[in-house]
Amino acid sequence: MITRIVALGTALVLMTAGCSADPGAEAAGPAGPGTIGLAMPTETSARWVSDGGNMKKQFELLGYTTDLKYADDDIATQVSQIGEMVDGDVKALVVGAIDGSALTSVLEKAAAADIPVISYDRLIRDTPNIDYYATFDNFKVGVLQGKAIVDRLKPATAKGPFTIELFAGSPDDNNATFFFNGAMSVLRPHISSGKLVVRSGQHEFADIATLRWDGEVAKARMASILSKSYASARLDAVLSPYDGISRGILAALQAGGYGTAAKPLPVITGQDAEADSVKLIAAGRQSQTVYKDTRELAKVAVRMTDMLLRGETPPVNDTEQYHNGVKAVSTFLLQPVDVDKSNYRRILVDGGYYTAEQLSG
Ligand code: GAL
Repeated sequence: MITRIVALGTALVLMTAGCSADPGAEAAGPAGPGTIGLAMPTETSARWVSDGGNMKKQFELLGYTTDLKYADDDIATQVSQIGEMVDGDVKALVVGAIDGSALTSVLEKAAAADIPVISYDRLIRDTPNIDYYATFDNFKVGVLQGKAIVDRLKPATAKGPFTIELFAGSPDDNNATFFFNGAMSVLRPHISSGKLVVRSGQHEFADIATLRWDGEVAKARMASILSKSYASARLDAVLSPYDGISRGILAALQAGGYGTAAKPLPVITGQDAEADSVKLIAAGRQSQTVYKDTRELAKVAVRMTDMLLRGETPPVNDTEQYHNGVKAVSTFLLQPVDVDKSNYRRILVDGGYYTAEQLSG
């Protein structure tokens, strides 16, 4: 494996020394650095479309070709796409898993073919056959969401008590527990003191998880909670882990009469800074989102893969937090950023993530 990697690395150096930024160039000669398999979960969420596109672009600038596939949030499809990439002799795999525990056998096949694997954004669990993990500080994402609620309601000093409902992400995505635990590290003391009250009584991760991060599932759950627990009470805050879920929750709240001067919307969090949600933030409907610059994550994953293929050791900044059930995976963590109405223009528009036009209308 190492010999092969070093040979590849040399080929890559020769290629890049020849200044070939043309993605088609390496296809002409046998010495090209080869194809990278990019297995992404879904195109229904804007971020994964950017993740895939950004990596494709960056790998191509280094002279690689890419095989970018989206699996429509279907586990069997993702397993077979990865299997085909292995059979197609990709040089490395970068995987954003749908179900973090469903890839054990296909990654055995990748290992048998000496194909290194980078776990992208979501940790792949229950396998020794991943080499590195590139992600954001997922616990901190939850902390930012919890803080967004506490900073607005001020349960420690305001009279209260305030009502809150809790939503978590997909139970098969390792990140969902990290987000929830991070948020609860901030919210739990106020729930224990009685200043924040979960009227539905649904606190446990299993009760509040949202399979496949599906906004429609969240909308139905929110509607049912409103009718069962809030017929005669006001809802003050909703912990939502992701913008697509927040939009589903908002739809149920609006159908339940929230969003008027007499019945203002609760504080509601989010994640990913999806354009549709940033517009809701600008309009004062969603309170906050957690921005994760997918361009940076793509850069980290591309650098990791390229260094591995050159036989070098990619830098990491966490070797303990992300145990996948078999081993602690060497991880590079990026920092998530709290975004709301007061700073979205500076961070997202001035930062070049969106044009002002993309956020208008
Ligand atoms: C998570 C990811 C979030 C969000 C969510 C739904 O794994 O970390 O940023 O995209 O999936 O797609």
